[in-house]
Amino acid sequence: MKTVCAIPGEDAAPEAFHPTVALIESLGLDLRFCYPPVGQAGLEGYGKAFPRQAREMIDASDATFFGATNGQSAAALFYLRWGKATYANVRPTRYLTGYKSPLASPEGLDLVIVRENLEDAYVCVEGDLEDGVVANLRSRTARKRLGELGKGRYAVKAITDKGAEQVARHACELARRRKSQGHPGKLTCGTKHNMLPHVDGLFRDVTARVAQDYPDVTFESFIVDDLAHRLVAQPQSLDVVLLPNLYGDILSDAAAGLAGGLGLAASGCYGNRYAYFESAHGSAPDIAGRGIINPTATILSGVMMLEHLGFSEAAARLHAALEATYAAGEALTPDQGGSASTQQFCDKVSTHL
Ligand code: IPM
Ligand code: MG
Repeated sequence: MKTVCAIPGEDAAPEAFHPTVALIESLGLDLRFCYPPVGQAGLEGYGKAFPRQAREMIDASDATFFGATNGQSAAALFYLRWGKATYANVRPTRYLTGYKSPLASPEGLDLVIVRENLEDAYVCVEGDLEDGVVANLRSRTARKRLGELGKGRYAVKAITDKGAEQVARHACELARRRKSQGHPGKLTCGTKHNMLPHVDGLFRDVTARVAQDYPDVTFESFIVDDLAHRLVAQPQSLDVVLLPNLYGDILSDAAAGLAGGLGLAASGCYGNRYAYFESAHGSAPDIAGRGIINPTATILSGVMMLEHLGFSEAAARLHAALEATYAAGEALTPDQGGSASTQQFCDKVSTHL
């Protein structure tokens, strides 16, 4: 029996989350959901948005299934990332017939962004330029000391050898696995190593070195702005794309836009001992309470979670039911050009199971 912590999140996220959990429960697996007191539930029960009790439930579970947060459940999200060291944020973009893609020819769009999930600007170290600690650092472009740039602020972007290496290895393994399933087996790395040779150069060099251990995987590397252009102009040329954290955050939303929007964007965050699964979109406060949020991103994240937990057949069944729903163009939510509610969409997926 596998145990999954379910954290629905805030705003419209629970409206996608609960019917998705019901779909997964209808598969009749040896899997049970438990609900740690996080966010509002934590505040009400324990006076904290992320009490010890919630952390202990996560620690005792096999995985976490997360909706999306407007901040109230953020402490839990931070624990799932940094506390559980889930360094590889895997964000697939795969066009399914029926998606409302802005591309004229979206067929064959099937790529996966692997986003480093813990470092880069997400070390979240910021300060004031006048601060004496960094005043002696020199800007290579302005040729001034940092403290002489004027009144302002700075942020640290940190890449470690270990952080780059472990996510590069995860991406290479994924490219190899995809190759065995008929994909090109190509890894594309994107960095700004022309401006930041020291930091982004490290990410690229470590990735290139790790890729040498995978001679069956084709390796290429582009400056990230060039890669952004390729992502839009020739998305079908990409297979597995490896990016440092912030570029990965930005370009994964862009990739979702190519397929048909954020409502379709799934993700799984993997560490060496734990993984959690969440849609890549936010909590969609603008449509909260209307019952029209597209649950596809949540369902696809659920598919990734089932695969991770060893329920491959069930994962394939759920994915096939989703595919059939889109292929028939039935009961689609407004973001995909339909007029169905979230529940009507899920009911339709259920009939295809
Ligand atoms: C994401 C989100 C998060 C991020 C936010 C909510 C902190 O945008 O998962 O992509 O920036 O990582
Ligand atoms: Mg994001």
